[in-house]
Amino acid sequence: MVVVDTQNSQQFVKPKGVFCEKVVCVEHYTDRLFMFRITRPTSFRFRSGEFVMIGLPNQAKPIYRAYSIACPSWDEELEFYSIKVPDGPLTKDLQKIRIGDEILMRPKPTGTLVNDALIDGKNLYLFSTGTGIAPFASVIRDPETYEKFETIILTHTCRKVAELAYGKKLFELTLEDPLVGDEAKGQFVYYPTVTQEEFSNTGRVTDLVQSGKLFQDLNLPELDPQRDRGMICGSMGFLKDMKEILLTKGFVEGSNSSPADFVVERAFVG
Ligand code: A2P
Repeated sequence: MVVVDTQNSQQFVKPKGVFCEKVVCVEHYTDRLFMFRITRPTSFRFRSGEFVMIGLPNQAKPIYRAYSIACPSWDEELEFYSIKVPDGPLTKDLQKIRIGDEILMRPKPTGTLVNDALIDGKNLYLFSTGTGIAPFASVIRDPETYEKFETIILTHTCRKVAELAYGKKLFELTLEDPLVGDEAKGQFVYYPTVTQEEFSNTGRVTDLVQSGKLFQDLNLPELDPQRDRGMICGSMGFLKDMKEILLTKGFVEGSNSSPADFVVERAFVG
């Protein structure tokens, strides 16, 4: 396939092995956030929580960015949740995609926000800010998550109430999910917080963990590495602060090759 780049008149030639998929759905939530779904190559497999490299066929050397796959591994399509950055190298164009447009996807998914990177535990905390909720949209619809943990707590901190829309819909969809809905009704807890507007829960989740308010609200004991496990995804500052809190409490960071108490991954930006 050949697409002419109108900006610099160079030709885009699809590299071997890269998937070229069609956009099947786009939903805009705010002027900063949107979701899109693409066709799924039949040979493409991934583990819940992993990310892939996504690009657009609009220039000779496409720009790729890491995107968490925001749907369960059995989904017939692939979903992504994205920020819109006006001058972002990829998202300045990606935010304009429409149904039928083409998206490039590198074939190898990877990532640490996977059940395999955590040792067994009782409660699984999925701590997210902004688009960092995306990998958890996959993890919370994986039956293995409900087999491995008794309670799964998804926290999502955003600046504004409107930015919670994707997570709220995800929560509702999970409770109705044909595969995990029954388990989710008893095991899945959703805890949204807002930092720059009035809302039922206000403040950064890091502060709510430190003050103990999160646990009072959830009626759960304070974090303990003997019992709890964590996944963290969001902005750099959030990852740093949340990781520090867990390390101070004695949690050990895990990876695919060395599973432990918690794992961390940066949410996509730009
Ligand atoms: P705040 O409004 O207090 O900065 P962003 O859109 O900048 O990625 O932020 C998304 C959410 O993450 C915001 O609610 C923001 O709160 C929060 N946040 C940003 N940095 C941190 C941090 N270091 N720890 C906890 N929450 C954070």
